[in-house]
Amino acid sequence: PRNASRGADGVVRLAGMPVHELAAEFGTPLFVIDEDDFRSRCRDMVRAFGDGARVHYASKAFLCGEVARWIRDEGLHLDVCSGGELAVALRAGFPAERIALHGNNKSVPELEMAVEAGVGDVVVDSLIEIERLEAVAKRAGKVVDVLVRITVGVEAHTHEYISTAHEDQKFGFSISSGDAMQAIARVFESDNLRLVGLHSHIGSQIFEIDGFEISTRRMLGLLREVADKFGMERAEQVRVLDLGGGLGISYLPHDDPPALDGFAANLRRIVAEEAERAGLPVPTIAVEPGRAIAGPGTVTLYEVGTIKDVVLDGGNRRRYVSVDGGMSDNIRPALYQAEYDCRLVSRSSEAGPVVARVVGKHCESGDIVIRDTWLPADVGPGDLMAVAATGAYCYSMSSRYNMLTRPAVVAVRDGEARLILRRETVEDLLSLEVKA
Ligand code: LLP
Repeated sequence: PRNASRGADGVVRLAGMPVHELAAEFGTPLFVIDEDDFRSRCRDMVRAFGDGARVHYASKAFLCGEVARWIRDEGLHLDVCSGGELAVALRAGFPAERIALHGNNKSVPELEMAVEAGVGDVVVDSLIEIERLEAVAKRAGKVVDVLVRITVGVEAHTHEYISTAHEDQKFGFSISSGDAMQAIARVFESDNLRLVGLHSHIGSQIFEIDGFEISTRRMLGLLREVADKFGMERAEQVRVLDLGGGLGISYLPHDDPPALDGFAANLRRIVAEEAERAGLPVPTIAVEPGRAIAGPGTVTLYEVGTIKDVVLDGGNRRRYVSVDGGMSDNIRPALYQAEYDCRLVSRSSEAGPVVARVVGKHCESGDIVIRDTWLPADVGPGDLMAVAATGAYCYSMSSRYNMLTRPAVVAVRDGEARLILRRETVEDLLSLEVKA
């Protein structure tokens, strides 16, 4: 987080709040969001992409009512991909016209909810969905703005991190098979749907611009074909070029993601050049960052419970440091072999480093928070550890595995902490039981 600092006493403060006070007041594990960090990343995005661009925050990274209000107040748009995300946003007072609905299998009730609320646009992903949405819009007597999700056919072996836009996966309409043109033609036929843009999302945690360049070129090439087939006037109404999310962040000290301003400037230049090459007006760029806004400014605070030294082949030891959460509040190490950085934050230590593995309290050996790290040899029960950059896809992918209760989430700002999601309780678990 931008507002993290370590005092002379070794205690880490987040926006001026000592971590042990946070732990004492709210318990552990605890997600602590640096509100200024989150909000300033929103503003950085808007500034970097410039006037006229649309920055959508991808809710899936982390959403709750309070975060929806930050996004609203900072002037961003919001992407949702389920009725649940939509309900949280609407309940928080997020303006419907700034919401886009995503997903490859939206249900009729979800489409109805979105159309009724008057969401800004729907990103359509299959012919069946186009039929459904048309019927829903017709029943409601509305015309719905849509973007067609395009499979741009970026080969997975070009760059292994851009692997969600290759042909053989569930999202989008393929350009090369002709499906994309068919979907576009189908939307043009409808009196209740209006095609306003093309969308692609090539992947996540991306550090290079190449994939976005290919995606821009292919989508604008498709739009050129649309202009040739249906006339320039129709093609000009397809004014939004949505390049999806995916901008990567640093999880480890040596990670080196591209600086936002340069990245955005390059993207804008590429879009302008490719539009010119295709003989089309420069489109409105839309981007959908989730991780790059929510990720860096949050830490997870854990309390250390037990320590165990395990003898490895060759006689060396590895110290297992168990914390009070794990794969239920951060599945990413188990699911993607994701790596994180953690620190002892409740005090300083002069003790020498030992080889350590930080693990959770779940009943599987894959319940690892940090596979390989060095920790001061005197780390022990009661110490607080902070894991950095846990703001994206940790709480939002959390579970109740082993019937652990979900952690609380607090926002810190200017020396104050505010609870924004309370900790789940065993009563919450029991409340789902149907009485016999
Ligand atoms: N737009 C669309 C259509 C997406 O599918 C996604 C992410 C985003 C935007 C936001 O991408 P971001 O800027 O956050 O990279 N659970 C995985 C990430 C899956 C992302 C899925 N879609 C993880 O924990 O790394």
